[in-house]
Amino acid sequence: MTTLATITPPSPAFPSSTLKPTTRFEFGVSVSQFARRRRRSCLHPTLLCTRDSSSRVFATSKLVEEFDPEIPVERASTPPSSWYTDPQFHRYELDRVFYGGGWQAVGYSDQIKENRDFFTGRLGEVEFVVCRDDDEGKVRAFHNVCSHHASILASGCGRRKSCFVCPYHGWTYNLNGSLVKATRMTGIDNVPLNEMGLRPLRVAVWGPFVLLKVNQDKSKKEEDFESDGSVASEWLGSSAGRLSEGGVDSTLSFICRREYTIDCNWKVFCDNYLDGGYHVPYAHKGLMSGLDLETYSTTLFERVSIQECGGGGSKAGAEEDGFNRLGSQALYAFVYPNFMINRYGPWMDTNLVIPLGPRKCKVVFDYFLDPSLKDDEAFIRRSLEESERVQMEDVVLCESVQRGLESPAYDKGRYALVEKAMHHFHCLLHQNLKL
Ligand code: FES
Ligand SMILES: [Fe+2]
Repeated sequence: MTTLATITPPSPAFPSSTLKPTTRFEFGVSVSQFARRRRRSCLHPTLLCTRDSSSRVFATSKLVEEFDPEIPVERASTPPSSWYTDPQFHRYELDRVFYGGGWQAVGYSDQIKENRDFFTGRLGEVEFVVCRDDDEGKVRAFHNVCSHHASILASGCGRRKSCFVCPYHGWTYNLNGSLVKATRMTGIDNVPLNEMGLRPLRVAVWGPFVLLKVNQDKSKKEEDFESDGSVASEWLGSSAGRLSEGGVDSTLSFICRREYTIDCNWKVFCDNYLDGGYHVPYAHKGLMSGLDLETYSTTLFERVSIQECGGGGSKAGAEEDGFNRLGSQALYAFVYPNFMINRYGPWMDTNLVIPLGPRKCKVVFDYFLDPSLKDDEAFIRRSLEESERVQMEDVVLCESVQRGLESPAYDKGRYALVEKAMHHFHCLLHQNLKL
């Protein structure tokens, strides 16, 4: 099984040679790769000598139970390092956490703003295409696989003239997924064309985000487009109102996408994000000048945690020449399991953390800006440079932690009180992973 996630963004609104247009990003490893790796190594002692699947599941569940979510943060130990290093645990985690039926952010609504706009991607082993049809302007999502011989149907992103035409033998599908032309099939019996349309996927839009869901839940028709209300409650729970108040779903202009491949487990990046600003004074001295860390607060919701911090008062992120990227208040929302929404000043950026293996992940940053500033190239360039600097500082931290987790000197650590969002994340993981 190939496990990939891909989003194809529209052309960046901000032309810059430093910006990297993105076409695909990888999500995990194939089953055959996994099997080979599993045969080669089981890093944790409890996984040695496990030959059948039931004992492997048992061994993995033992690893899950090494973290006890009932112990409060004051007395709790972190999950063991095997959660971050073990290939078998990683495989199990992909199945339970990423392919378990929850909403996954896969794109943003500007990508399908007009009728006939579409973008393609890959989530797990699912090739998908999201489009806005040309009848009622309804958002639809389908498996991006031709019914004839399984060719990938659409690629990239953009606007269709009217239909999806398979590049292999020319079978043609409407934007509502129905098969309208099967070429050179005259004389072939029993081909029910009306049953050979594209297979639908569940899709939703909340604010600027496009979400997909892939699961085994057959109780709901897959083609149901979810309303804002049901998605808000399912994806964001009771944090939806707070996020709206914070301007997360206000109208902003897409600026650009940047990607970072990091040599660390995906959870290391999440943990770093969720430490309540603990590392900022030590690792982001430049960022610290724009934040008032005395005002840092963390609020926990069902599957979301929100960290907030005031701007640096008189500093307020403003430099002598008046440049102010962060504004007076910064909001950092973590949506379990792997999506982060950062809203500060006129900016919003989102970070999607994609597992590429036990010790590798990719983080996709999408930048959005208040429309009044979208043509201010100097402000945009400088803001992105600052953001890039912070990100590179975090890359160094995360790769360092991964090496430490792989050392025999370390197994479990402890939490500081400011790290309660990290503890919350680990509790959600445990809930998701336990049998
Ligand atoms: S595989 Fe698509 S038309 Fe043949
Ligand atoms: Fe950081």
